[in-house]
Amino acid sequence: MTDHIQEARRILAVNDRGGYTVPTDRLYPFQWNWDSAFVAMGFALYDVDRAYRELERLAEGQWADGMIPHIVFHQPSDTYFPGPSVWRTKHGIPTSGITQPPVFAIALRQVHDAADEGARERTLALYLAALKWHRWWYAARDPEGTGLVALLHPWESGSDNSPAWDAAMARVPTTTTTPVVRKDIGHVHADMRPRDEDYRRFIHLVDTYADCDWNPAEQWVRAPFKVAEIQTTAILLKAGEDLEHLARLFGRTEEAEEIAAFNALSRKAILGQWRPALSRFVSRDLVSGADIEAATQAGFLPLLALDLEAAMASAAVAEMRRWSAGLKVAFPTTKPGLAAYEPKRYWRGPAWGIINWLLIEGLRRNGEGAFAEELRGSTLSAIEREGFAEYFDPETGEGCGGLGFSWTAAAYLWLKR
Ligand code: DGY
Repeated sequence: MTDHIQEARRILAVNDRGGYTVPTDRLYPFQWNWDSAFVAMGFALYDVDRAYRELERLAEGQWADGMIPHIVFHQPSDTYFPGPSVWRTKHGIPTSGITQPPVFAIALRQVHDAADEGARERTLALYLAALKWHRWWYAARDPEGTGLVALLHPWESGSDNSPAWDAAMARVPTTTTTPVVRKDIGHVHADMRPRDEDYRRFIHLVDTYADCDWNPAEQWVRAPFKVAEIQTTAILLKAGEDLEHLARLFGRTEEAEEIAAFNALSRKAILGQWRPALSRFVSRDLVSGADIEAATQAGFLPLLALDLEAAMASAAVAEMRRWSAGLKVAFPTTKPGLAAYEPKRYWRGPAWGIINWLLIEGLRRNGEGAFAEELRGSTLSAIEREGFAEYFDPETGEGCGGLGFSWTAAAYLWLKR
């Protein structure tokens, strides 16, 4: 075992809080939804029991309506804002009230494949949780049946302060009933985090939805931010393919057909978001009705879940190569050179191991193995040089944000396997 693999495993062990892994100490002291799904895939490579535990502990936070929240507050901590008292949710274990990209079923299939026959019951219980969540996505976040699921808060994308949200967030008031007490900038330099104004809008949205008692139908009507989002839908579709695979494996034919219908709907809808002039896919702002053309990584995430015609795939890859030219670490989360691009500020430019992981899978799926290999090499060397940072400045390669980061450790293990 190399030193880096050993170090990655050590980070996952250090961030263990009892069957679940915090993204990093202090900055993120609870269980985060998509972080845990990536971590479970990392564990699946050497400790399958622990991989199942990660998903099982996350599923403890699942709401009666099927939503799996973005944070599960298993134990108190005063190093994070906003905590449970801001969210005012009603689930048994305190949780946030919004969700996050549904990587869960992608992870579940990998964990199941790594397990032996005896684990079937464990997979089945988690499969049922995932199915309930996917049904929630289509009912609560696509009530009109378009095939694209909508986000009501930028935190649901995981790409909190992406330029993709700038226009939609500009309409969200900066007034809050909850005082904004930022703890994040006590752990990480403010230049690497969202701005104060972003936080006021983030919390305005939380206040608004808490006032709806987290009722999905009421939130849908009152939401000042509503984006039919391409990255989340692509992840949901890939997860849906994996869920359908598990349903068929378990002989659950009716459910498999139901999932296949969700998948077909989303596949068609994502394809409809391809913009040849941009060589990428775009999200739609459901409040203004306009395309979101901001140049971010999300535009290429559909490669993960679609088998594109060769001409489309090579146009997308040519565009990805243009964005990556001259960078020390690809793939930038905002196109370099744009006014919105900030190479150190969180989701406004930096390269992230888990985004690269998803892009690499998508490139391979679409026969673009050469660029996938370049991206894999660039990601692994960034981590080997700088350590397991939250993300990387694409120009200098510098490790930024939180350190000793669980999903970067999981990405390393996965990409190195
Ligand atoms: C944060 O607090 O920065 C998180 O990304 C929200 O999930």
